[in-house]
Amino acid sequence: MLPFLPASSPISDDDGANQTNQRLPPFSVCVALAVADSQSHRHRESRPSRGAPACSCSAIKHVPSVHHPSPRISSRQTSLPTPPPVPVQFATMLQLALALCVLTAGGVVRAQPFDYPTAKPSTTWANTDASLPHHVTYADGSVARAALLRLNPAGYGPSYAFGFFCTNHLAPLCAEFLLGVAVVYCNSGGLMTSVVAGIPQVVWSANRGSPVGEGAAAELTAAGDLVLRSAQGAVVWSAAGTAGRSVAAMAVARDGNLLLLDARNNTVWQSFDHPTDALLVGQSLRPGARLVANSSAANWSPSRLYLTVAADDDSLSAYVDAEPPQRYYRLGFSGGGGGGGAYATYTNGSLAVFAAAAPAPTPLATIQLPAVGAGTVQYMRLEHDGHLRVYEWSSAGWAPVFDVLRLFPDDCAFPTVCGAYGVCTDMQCSCPDAANFRAVDFRRPNRGCVTVAPVAGCGGSHPPARLVSLPGLAYFNDPATSLRALERVSDAACRKACLDDCACAAAQFVYGTDAGDGFCYLQSEVLSLETSRPEVVHYNSTMHLKVRATRRPSPSARF
Ligand SMILES: *[C@@H]1O[C@H](CO)[C@@H](O)[C@H](O)[C@H]1NC(C)=O
Ligand SMILES: *[C@@H]1O[C@H](CO)[C@@H](O)[C@H](O)[C@H]1NC(C)=O
Ligand SMILES: *[C@@H]1O[C@H](CO)[C@@H](O)[C@H](O)[C@H]1NC(C)=O
Ligand SMILES: *[C@@H]1O[C@H](CO)[C@@H](O)[C@H](O)[C@H]1NC(C)=O
Repeated sequence: MLPFLPASSPISDDDGANQTNQRLPPFSVCVALAVADSQSHRHRESRPSRGAPACSCSAIKHVPSVHHPSPRISSRQTSLPTPPPVPVQFATMLQLALALCVLTAGGVVRAQPFDYPTAKPSTTWANTDASLPHHVTYADGSVARAALLRLNPAGYGPSYAFGFFCTNHLAPLCAEFLLGVAVVYCNSGGLMTSVVAGIPQVVWSANRGSPVGEGAAAELTAAGDLVLRSAQGAVVWSAAGTAGRSVAAMAVARDGNLLLLDARNNTVWQSFDHPTDALLVGQSLRPGARLVANSSAANWSPSRLYLTVAADDDSLSAYVDAEPPQRYYRLGFSGGGGGGGAYATYTNGSLAVFAAAAPAPTPLATIQLPAVGAGTVQYMRLEHDGHLRVYEWSSAGWAPVFDVLRLFPDDCAFPTVCGAYGVCTDMQCSCPDAANFRAVDFRRPNRGCVTVAPVAGCGGSHPPARLVSLPGLAYFNDPATSLRALERVSDAACRKACLDDCACAAAQFVYGTDAGDGFCYLQSEVLSLETSRPEVVHYNSTMHLKVRATRRPSPSARF
């Protein structure tokens, strides 16, 4: 049998559905939200000036005002503080509210007082509490300031806000804002709250790599451009190309898509065409578009991990952006080639690939996902660890409900799981060997390893290189995206090929029972390695890692 690294296959597993957020009867909604309101008041919030309250449970909205305002929650706080004691008036007001709810429970009045999903040119939103009165500070110090809000059709629950979001919870003061679209949680009064929701879930942003500060401003210009300026007035981002195209309105759609529309409601620009690291249900990954993971949990800037529909070989693939890019996931299909490539669409229950040229009802490839629970919201995000996770809102908050990219043979095949040169074994990290490698941070083995004698340059007067050979180690990269692949060669020929090639940082030699006849894959860069599992993958694998050849000092050269 010819050894090769198998590609991942479609998954049909939909037992991950989390549908705890069932719709409550009007009476219990009022009770639940009255309590939610009283809790949310622990966090600074105010309501937008526009829109008259029209809530069928409107009495509840005023309940919190009987509290004395509580101080702003410290941004360093990680656990929820205990609520202030409930004043006697509050209990009375709650009873009154419940009575009103019972009265209006059969009514048809919809609670949407703070639904303001559209704007017209020219409108400017400054990133200040004063300019965006509908703002909330979360328990961890994160801040959401809504410029537009598309309230959940139920009148409360997960909703989409366009505005400024700061999730820089590592800093003492939330100072770095993204302009974008986030899923926020709204209570019965249409107010954003942080009851159990955790921080706002930013699903699209304009300026992920260059956050702005207090006083920055977003403007839908008279010409129809959407522009983000720093507090100093420098243009940080613009929707580019929409000016002069008769933009008549901007809107946050029901599905969370931010739209620039002309007078006939044609879409001139949409955030769905410019994904960052996340997809919403209904959104497509167009030919050539990429989902790019953020750098770390504390850094939104784009990392080298991306997911795309690869036009050249008909696949939905995930890569590390190296030279050449190294592929760690591939879902292949046939029939996408016929011009225009293919695109992937996130639907309720699947991630499916369609041919762009002939949109057929039957997808070319499908990954089954848990269905979106009624009344709730899902999104999927390519994360800094290379996983593509589906998150769903439930009454307990946001939780991952599905891991979309299944790797063979296991999660040790994720490219950054143990850092560069780190070896993943049963999801534990170590260094390849003690003689030639040491941990970047020995207390944090998942940060990777460095060679004790790094290769410094190549060829000519540069010091010569040698290979450290490690049987039993394997590498995630798809052979098709290796720097070079040599077929039917010996282990010795594989090593020579790497030593002779300045661009080769490592070679993987893959074979069955005969080390004289195998496959050699040269790598330009070494990310995480994995302990080979021959019993599962049915091949043997040796990694040859290039390090500097250190000359032993001769006794006469000691002084
Ligand atoms: C555009 O869409 C909005 C909202 O759906 C609607 O109110 C408006 O009448 C539409 N305008 C045109 C010209 O179709
Ligand atoms: C998604 O599909 C499931 C069943 O297929 C359905 O029960 C659910 O209501 C749908 N969710 C949404 C948000 O449309
Ligand atoms: C970056 O992504 C990780 C997961 O991939 C997420 O936990 C984190 O919230 C994101 N960044 C920031 C600044 O929050
Ligand atoms: C790996 O190599 C050993 C020794 O040559 C051999 O006995 C074994 O069958 C090989 N395993 C596989 C899966 O080819």
